[in-house]
Amino acid sequence: MTVLTLEDIHSYYGTSHVLHGLSLEVQEGEVVCLLGRNGAGKTTTIRSIIGLTPPRSGKIFLFGKEMQGKKPYEIFRNGVRLIPQGRHIFPMLTVEENLKLALVGAGVRDEKNELEKAYTLFPVLKEKRRDKSRTLSGGQLQMVANARALLGPARLILMDEPTEGLSPLLIEQIGQSILEMKQNGKTVLLAEQHLQMALTAGDRHYIIDNGHLVFQGTSQDIQDNEEVKSTYLGISKKSIRMQKRECD
Ligand SMILES: Nc1ncnc2c1ncn2[C@@H]1O[C@H](COP(=O)(O)OP(=O)(O)OP(=O)(O)O)[C@@H](O)[C@H]1O
Ligand SMILES: [Mg+2]
Repeated sequence: MTVLTLEDIHSYYGTSHVLHGLSLEVQEGEVVCLLGRNGAGKTTTIRSIIGLTPPRSGKIFLFGKEMQGKKPYEIFRNGVRLIPQGRHIFPMLTVEENLKLALVGAGVRDEKNELEKAYTLFPVLKEKRRDKSRTLSGGQLQMVANARALLGPARLILMDEPTEGLSPLLIEQIGQSILEMKQNGKTVLLAEQHLQMALTAGDRHYIIDNGHLVFQGTSQDIQDNEEVKSTYLGISKKSIRMQKRECD
């Protein structure tokens, strides 16, 4: 089943034309990545999908239904969840209070069961459930953000740069938790700048540059394509050669 289709969308901030005819597709159960440098248009793509920056032209289909022009709350009601860039956890609330607030937002009645599911997926949050969120590490905050988005009937998870500002070990943990979401049958669209994590967690990738779609392919397609990595992902040919030498 096709979960999400973007057809030739054009999005703007005022008069500034940011997305130039972007098209992409996400199938049920896939982890699909949006890659590209700072300012490429990844967040704007996500904002377009959830109705915060509605495209001025083009079409958006969710679960086969035309959705362009719909309000964010209508898109949310269709099971689309956003994990925003910067995480947006309430620092003075405990971990559990943050999760409970999301349950209210999602209109979930069976609180206990949903919390238990979240704690099974992220055991560290069970240990920390009574701690104020401001005492958590960056990686743990990202876990709260991930758990919050998975509560209730989440059918498509949009993640915007979950690894931003995290150490390599925590990046690996986030990658692991995305793979676990996938094993649980979730569908994920992930905007990411950490290439290795994206290539490990993602099934397919779309590379955006200056609001244009410039490449699409599997992790292997990108891994094998030094031209694409150096031109659009800011990875120099020299550093690719050095990494290769290290691996040999
Ligand atoms: N609120 C805004 N008003 C005007 N221009 C914006 C706004 N937000 C983003 N832009 C511009 O739109 C372009 C795309 O930005 P966007 O945030 O989508 O990039 P991104 O790929 O998410 O980058 P990053 O990796 O830094 O998060 C950039 O040129 C940016 O300066
Ligand atoms: Mg962004």
